[in-house]
Amino acid sequence: MKKLLALVLMTVMLLSVFAVGAAAEAKQISENALIGIVLPTKEESRWLNDQKYFEEYFKDVNYDILFSQNNTATEKTNVETFISRGAEVIVLCAYDAAGAAAAVNAAKEEGIVVISYDRLIMGTDKLDYYVTFDSCSVGKAQADYLIEQAEGKSGVNLYMYSGALTDNNSVLFFEGAWKALQPYIADGTFVVRNCDKAVEFKDKNELTRDEMVSIMQTIDSEWNMATCKSLAEAHLAAVGSEAKGEVFVLGPADDDCCRALSDAFRDDAEVTRLVITGADGVEASVQYIIDGKQSMTVYKDTQALVKGTLQIVEALKKGEEPAYDTTYNNDAMDVPTIQADVVTVTADNIAEVFFEGGVYDGSNYTGWQ
Ligand code: BGC
Repeated sequence: MKKLLALVLMTVMLLSVFAVGAAAEAKQISENALIGIVLPTKEESRWLNDQKYFEEYFKDVNYDILFSQNNTATEKTNVETFISRGAEVIVLCAYDAAGAAAAVNAAKEEGIVVISYDRLIMGTDKLDYYVTFDSCSVGKAQADYLIEQAEGKSGVNLYMYSGALTDNNSVLFFEGAWKALQPYIADGTFVVRNCDKAVEFKDKNELTRDEMVSIMQTIDSEWNMATCKSLAEAHLAAVGSEAKGEVFVLGPADDDCCRALSDAFRDDAEVTRLVITGADGVEASVQYIIDGKQSMTVYKDTQALVKGTLQIVEALKKGEEPAYDTTYNNDAMDVPTIQADVVTVTADNIAEVFFEGGVYDGSNYTGWQ
């Protein structure tokens, strides 16, 4: 009797293991499945690169791209449009990390596979995959550059800016930068000139998300060039000449914002030297880097994300579980994630990475030869 019971139990256990395995199996999509891609805006250079590479790599895929104009309602409508057009996969780069959760849930109810693209959509357990760069390493690369440039100095004026608070990446960028920079703020290498909240936390390396957000709220660039300009002008107007002279700026991990900040800082006659960090590696920043108006960028080769997305789509067409590198937690689940690396670019290696690497045509730029 005992043996029989054990056998029954074992069978039940085996069946439930099998059920978990089956549930984790990938959903098969059809060969001509519509892939609906929703990108945040055409106003920020970064997303035009992504668009260009989707057009290149998705030539043989039935896809369409809609832009959300940095607007939560438009983003929702774009997802609804793809749902009603029968999309089988939606690739969503959310303007609003939390607001987009409802759209993800609606898509999921229709059995659509949802891929969070570049930015993690928070607070939903209905995501299938995430494709991204290592955003913490972007912030760290920016901070490492500033630290290297400040070697041997003390009391260096530092101005810090964060990405939009609607975007989860902004927290990751800030976290990566803060962890590296904080010891050098604590030891007086840097003096933060535009953010009392950062000064308040200067002795704490591991900040909670809420603490980071409380700092970021006071230096939120909103991923917007005009906001960057007005923030920088207000910050410079609020300080005396001891906070100018040589100035270091932690830009908000976006080259467009970096150029806007650079213009504003260089417009101030009392700023005599500027060290400023960017990220993305967009075309408009190339000449700025050569000319020393932008000190560096953290290059994100967006082809990697587009190829990662294509890899998922192709696996799903074969009914196979797509391969992934890691997982990210979005407060509701661990999302299987394909993660790409980034490269620091300065005037010293710009020719090698961008021109010899075939990213941009060097003949369009002067002063690097
Ligand atoms: C992206 C950056 C981009 C920024 C502003 C971030 O989420 O990771 O590459 O520059 O948004 O659009």
